[in-house]
Amino acid sequence: MNSAPIPVNAVETASLVCHPGVFLVEKDYELIFLCDKPAMASVVVDGRTFTDNVNGVMRSDTDVHKIKVPMSLLDKAGAYRVHITPLADHCNYYPKPAPTEAYDYPFTPIPETGDIKAYVLADTHGQVTVPAETALAHGSFDFLILLGDIGDSAASKEQVTTLHRLTAAITGGRFPTVYIRGNHDTRGYMAEHLHKYIPTRNGATYYTFRAGPVWGVVLDCGEDKPDTSIEYGSLEYGGVADYIGFRNAQTDYLRDLIANADTTYNAEGVTRRVALCHINFTYTDRPFNDYNPALYEKWIRCLNEIGIDMLICGHEHRVGIQPDSYFHGDPIPAFPTLLTSAHCDNPEPLRGGHKPGEFTGTSLTFTAEGVKHVFTNHKGEELDFT
Ligand SMILES: [Fe+2]
Repeated sequence: MNSAPIPVNAVETASLVCHPGVFLVEKDYELIFLCDKPAMASVVVDGRTFTDNVNGVMRSDTDVHKIKVPMSLLDKAGAYRVHITPLADHCNYYPKPAPTEAYDYPFTPIPETGDIKAYVLADTHGQVTVPAETALAHGSFDFLILLGDIGDSAASKEQVTTLHRLTAAITGGRFPTVYIRGNHDTRGYMAEHLHKYIPTRNGATYYTFRAGPVWGVVLDCGEDKPDTSIEYGSLEYGGVADYIGFRNAQTDYLRDLIANADTTYNAEGVTRRVALCHINFTYTDRPFNDYNPALYEKWIRCLNEIGIDMLICGHEHRVGIQPDSYFHGDPIPAFPTLLTSAHCDNPEPLRGGHKPGEFTGTSLTFTAEGVKHVFTNHKGEELDFT
């Protein structure tokens, strides 16, 4: 488990709460980190400074920061420095910032060729220690995938920042993470502010990423029940869920990717293609999309055309390859759906179970032949389902 951040210069004006997360979004990294009090922030890579600003104004009244850095620059530099600077009074003239505290991090980029390893955790629901132990017990890997429902909800800052504390405990700010929003992450009063805490493509929770020879597309179903479910109120009377346009926009996004295949999933160096989504939308027995029942067929048609190797999901609290018979639509998926996490050390295939202090995640290896998966528990034991 990675320990607490240690500053280069302990001026103790404001400190990092935990190590930064370095998140893959499109062709950039988004560095996200928490401070123990409101402060301004910047990141320095190879002599270039990137600040957290809004239209040129430094953000000082916030304790969470998100700073975009070009992937190619950080990969080449192999290190970055974080600066945090409290500003007690963001006054009109002559503001007086407190001394800046600095933190140095080495950074290991994902190799551009060869076999690539990732570790997947989903449905941690507010837990940090046991899921982190699970990933670390497996050994080293090139990037982390946090596949939704990382907090138990977005009802409190404690729950929302599970993402940052879990990422820090596993990566120590030293290698990349891919984050996918889950349906529990859409619930509660902070859900509308979640975009400030998570990686996004200009605010959108669906995007692509490159991890060496791996191309991925992150999709986001939103909630797992119809927008009209009583849990969300109702649209007619002012409900809190309106995912119709949001999901349709992702269909358009997938079609745009296909129209630009040469620069997306067929770009130079891509050998493996995956889709990541918290909800296994290839399971169609649950009517969570009542206003647009054909939507996921459109997504599947696009993913078939892209030729993904695998759809990687959480949500079910179980592990295994989902049987093809779970999908009743048209076209049928030309790819397997992998379920990746369970809350116990010894889940049976496609069965879950909850046992405190235990967890199972998934190790992925992207090779020239395909995507291999192994389920490992919090002791680091591989589960043999043969
Ligand atoms: Fe879920």
